[in-house]
Amino acid sequence: MESENILEAKQVSVAFRIAGKFQKAIYDIDLRLRRGEVLAIVGESGSGKSTIGKTIVGLEQMTSGQLIYKGQDVSKKKIRNQLKYNKDVQMIFQDAFSSLNPRKTIYDIIAEPIRNFEKIDANTENKRIHELLDIVGLPKQALEQYPFQFSGGQQQRIGIARVVATNPKLIVADEPVSALDLSVQAQV
Ligand SMILES: Nc1ncnc2c1ncn2[C@@H]1O[C@H](COP(=O)(O)OP(=O)(O)OP(=O)(O)O)[C@@H](O)[C@H]1O
Ligand SMILES: [Mg+2]
Repeated sequence: MESENILEAKQVSVAFRIAGKFQKAIYDIDLRLRRGEVLAIVGESGSGKSTIGKTIVGLEQMTSGQLIYKGQDVSKKKIRNQLKYNKDVQMIFQDAFSSLNPRKTIYDIIAEPIRNFEKIDANTENKRIHELLDIVGLPKQALEQYPFQFSGGQQQRIGIARVVATNPKLIVADEPVSALDLSVQAQV
């Protein structure tokens, strides 16, 4: 089972409507990721790295192609649900701040995926959120605060805590440290 493919993209294209015309942002992408493997996508600005990531987690629609997760086509919602795809495949966004709901406290932001995907009681949830905060190196008082009260590096950590909250099987990390200074990059 060690070399089992966890994710395959086959001929995936995504087009955006720009000034009334459809323009392809990514064109016939193929990729294969095995369990335990790290796959890095490198390319110049605007080449489509974020788009492929968002497409994998379902935030952009494919114009054509297939996404195969654990051997099954996850373009079908029913299969996505069966495989718990939305719980197990998570993304750390390039722009941490805009991915955090400005009206929610850090507590509620980190709790959201847990509440969506797991049924646990308030005490267990509370313990879990404190552990996650600890893992990403933020102080307890952060929990009552709002995203704008944090630095870019801290916002990135909040995004990471939220992503690992449900123990995903696959994480799409979209330049999770490129906006941070070098010492913070090393920590994150
Ligand atoms: N929502 C959108 N609507 C229209 N065009 C978009 C949208 N998102 C991305 N694009 C376009 O798709 C192309 C790929 O963008 P994408 O953000 O995937 O690039 P990237 O490789 O992540 O770049 P960077 O290194 O700057 O983060 C760009 O030409 C961009 O303008
Ligand atoms: Mg990008």
